[in-house]
Amino acid sequence: MTVIASKCPDYKVTVVDISEEKIKAWNSSNLPIFEPGLLERVLKARGKNLFFSAEIDRCIDEADIIFVAVNTPTKTFGEGAGKAIDLQFIEQTARRIKENAKSKKIVVEKSTISVRAAETMASILHAGNNSVQFEILSNPEFMAEGTGIRDLENPDRVLIGSRNTPSGLAARDVLMDIYLHWVPEERLITTNLWSSELSKLATNAFLAQRVSSINTIAAICEVTEADVTEVSRAVGMDSRIGSKFLNAGPGFGGSCFRKDILNMVYLCEHYQLNKIAAFWEQVVSFNDYQMESYVKRILQAMFNTLVGKKLAIFGFAFKPDTGDTRDAPAIYICKRLLEEKACLKITDPHALDNAMKDLQGMKGVDFIEDPYRAVEGAHGIALITEWASYKKLDYQKIFDAMEKPAFIFDGRNHLDHKALYEIGFNVYPVGKSALKHL
Ligand code: UDX
Repeated sequence: MTVIASKCPDYKVTVVDISEEKIKAWNSSNLPIFEPGLLERVLKARGKNLFFSAEIDRCIDEADIIFVAVNTPTKTFGEGAGKAIDLQFIEQTARRIKENAKSKKIVVEKSTISVRAAETMASILHAGNNSVQFEILSNPEFMAEGTGIRDLENPDRVLIGSRNTPSGLAARDVLMDIYLHWVPEERLITTNLWSSELSKLATNAFLAQRVSSINTIAAICEVTEADVTEVSRAVGMDSRIGSKFLNAGPGFGGSCFRKDILNMVYLCEHYQLNKIAAFWEQVVSFNDYQMESYVKRILQAMFNTLVGKKLAIFGFAFKPDTGDTRDAPAIYICKRLLEEKACLKITDPHALDNAMKDLQGMKGVDFIEDPYRAVEGAHGIALITEWASYKKLDYQKIFDAMEKPAFIFDGRNHLDHKALYEIGFNVYPVGKSALKHL
């Protein structure tokens, strides 16, 4: 919404939330989320055509277009637990819109829901004796965290799904007018509602599948002396495949990949496409295997015991440039390392607050801002998130502060392995042979 407000000075954008605390934070200079470039843009537009308010009911009635961007987590209970999307927030929002809207509205699904979810919203909005007309559009969000502003300001495409009726197409055009303020027309694509909803799930499933695919190749590299970076470069230069999302690592994380794939699995099961459900479910279960493999590599390298050993964890966020730790591989990996009775010193430039919540109540873990302090007396370093700042550290100084033999498990192939080896580290990259003095 901040990008829309800054690109469209002729529109008034109001963001509402049931959490007054969050709205207060959005009205301060301490925004509730970290995203490069966001604060500057909020400060520029706030109070002019961008507002944050907790007065939901009034704002619903004042709006012509309502973007629904509530969270749609995976259901944790009952039918479809662990796979289906929990639609309670969507339903509550639809009911609240219906109760407060006195004039016709365009309702835009921004949240990733499931296929045919727009139908659910429409049924709620049009139920009973309500004479207000609602038109529902699907406009899935493809921005990735950390590059959110760039992805929104210069999107590969903007997708708008609508009903193929005169009022559906008219609503679609109203939304297109907003994006046309800065997105070239050829990048706006329009589809029917269900295609738009499915395209979002399919895009994330394909991206996650690529990460899982390259991670399977990394496992083959580790036993054959092939090098995953070389293989990934050779594969990626085939223009039919392309070079993106081919970096091997400890597994994918984030709020979308697992959730959206499992949602698609649930959809397949619903339509009794069981083989197809099993195919996509494999992408997720392979990711669990990948995280476990990273832990096993640490365990085996460190003489099959981590009891009482200190490990510095470099990076907890699910990827760099965000403080978000939802579904971060680091959560699983750290819990497993703690199970092996290691002592963890976790460091991350932006995710320590979230890391503390994720590992709340667990023993044997400290959260330390300064990586140089985190490595004092450590037996090993596990790099899980490829923050740029980790490249610039003085590894000689780090080596000197550590117990010997010193291990480094570069889960992202982020550091200069040869240089680390020459300092004296035993280096364990992903998908390539270890460099060790042992
Ligand atoms: C994703 C989609 O990319 C975005 O389009 C959608 O709107 C939201 O979900 P996001 O979750 O922010 O975005 O992160 P993304 O950049 O896709 O990375 C997901 C995970 O895959 C991260 O844990 C990342 O580290 C991992 N990854 C990515 C790899 O391990 N290797 C790669 O080559 C790329």
